Amino acid sequence: MRDEIFHRLKREFEELFSRGYGLNELLDIIVEKLHTRVPYYNWVGFYLVDETGERLKLGPYVGEPTEHVLIPFGKGICGQAAITKSTFLVQDVSKEDNYLACSPKVKSEIVVPIIVDGKVYGELDIDSHELNAFDENDRKLLEWICERIIVFVKSVK
Ligand code: SME
Repeated sequence: MRDEIFHRLKREFEELFSRGYGLNELLDIIVEKLHTRVPYYNWVGFYLVDETGERLKLGPYVGEPTEHVLIPFGKGICGQAAITKSTFLVQDVSKEDNYLACSPKVKSEIVVPIIVDGKVYGELDIDSHELNAFDENDRKLLEWICERIIVFVKSVK
């Protein structure tokens, strides 16, 4: 079931990346598609690094509004992913000390950084209302999407 959803989504994203959309449109479509198609992706959004180069600013998202519009590097799961420049997967957010809660409903979270030329450009952040929601299939699909975004950003630089 999960395999099938991800397989189809990947094909659709392949097509999406080849259609000549601009970055803002691409990010809008990606959050919408992921949120609609994967039942346990309850909040899906991008954070993009702001002009200071040390904070993440909320970009396109789908889900409940969040008070975490600006996140300094190091704070929360998003901030930690920015510092380590690697995917941060938390299967039970109640066990994570450095965590910024958006909604009491959220039980697990995955954050994939988008690194362009060695610097954090942004992140894809997904919250789930299920405990242990994410597995290697999620990680692979989301990292693949972020890789494609990196290629796109480099191509328009
Ligand atoms: N939980 C995140 C904050 C962003 S929200 O999930 C939308 C964190 O700890 O960084």
